[in-house]
Amino acid sequence: MGSDRYDEFKEDTEGRARVADSPELIAYYKDLERFEAGALWTVANKIEPWAPRSASVPVVWRYADLRSHVLRSVDLVSPEDAGRRVVYLNNPGRRDVAAAVGWLYSGLQVMKAGERASAHAHTHSALRFIMEGEGAYTIVDGHKMTLGARDFVLTPNGTWHEHGVEASGSTCIWQDGLDIPLVNALEAGFYAVHPDLHQPVTHPVDDTTHTWGGPALQPQISGWTKPYSPLFKYEWEPTYEALQRYARATDGSPYDGILLNYVNPLNGGPVMPTIGASMQMLRPGEHTKAHRQTGSYLYQVAKGSGFSIVDGKRLDWTERDIFCVPSWAVHEHANGSATEDACLFCFNDVPVMRALGLYREEAVTDNGGRQIPA
Ligand SMILES: [Fe+2]
Ligand SMILES: [Fe+2]
Repeated sequence: MGSDRYDEFKEDTEGRARVADSPELIAYYKDLERFEAGALWTVANKIEPWAPRSASVPVVWRYADLRSHVLRSVDLVSPEDAGRRVVYLNNPGRRDVAAAVGWLYSGLQVMKAGERASAHAHTHSALRFIMEGEGAYTIVDGHKMTLGARDFVLTPNGTWHEHGVEASGSTCIWQDGLDIPLVNALEAGFYAVHPDLHQPVTHPVDDTTHTWGGPALQPQISGWTKPYSPLFKYEWEPTYEALQRYARATDGSPYDGILLNYVNPLNGGPVMPTIGASMQMLRPGEHTKAHRQTGSYLYQVAKGSGFSIVDGKRLDWTERDIFCVPSWAVHEHANGSATEDACLFCFNDVPVMRALGLYREEAVTDNGGRQIPA
């Protein structure tokens, strides 16, 4: 500790560290420092908070602000030199780890028609959510997927993958989402460039959709043993149709409206071990009740407009805007239209929270379950 004060975290509560500094104790603490050690009671209340205190702050990244700057990068750098031409989302509380929220990274990537990036693999798990343009494709371990707006595609841990846009297509922009900060925090990040710079397509185009995309139907023969979903692409149209059909059968959640999780079709689990994803629909005029959950959440507005209130901060959003909900932040969502539905794509680290026994949620009951924006 740099200062001479060691009791700044003491709490006057039974069961918590509450030792006040004295000249004798300070001398003791300084002796410990000489041996790269310290007295736990000087930091216990800091490192063991009563509840999560996220360093991330609620942010909305508006597409209208960022789109032109994303496009500027096309003339400034080539995909060959940049590796990936991406403007990343930098939460003011997480600049040290380049995270958009918590331990999640995100960015907006752009590619022109006819461009393709080199194939690579990493231990970070990744996803893409297509924002605009035609002719985008991703190849994952020899499986080529054609991508349209609002399609969601996986590039899991360890897979060879590369992205491109067909020469007949148009400039494409998509959101990348990765667990880079988490994997780096665990000091388990590896990266490899494909020895041939590109990989062959070894399966029929869109074969994972053809094999695994049937509703509640599984192929008789699969042999799939990987720890992530064999369905690499989740298309927008069937997802939106499923939301509309589900809405006919349910009142939905008071906190999320009509929400469907993207899952591994083999076992109903998350799409990847470290990243979960969902698409939710807020019906016309719907304003959810507030709750909080552990885990970090990054939303992209797939359709419509409205606002969310996150820890008392109102975030207005419209199509293709991105916003975050930090861990344990109180949040509620509102559709701003009385006639049109609004849809929110979300990816999160909930699978990590659940796997480690750390997932919790709590409803807000004050003020009728709604926050009063600051
Ligand atoms: Fe990658
Ligand atoms: Fe929530």
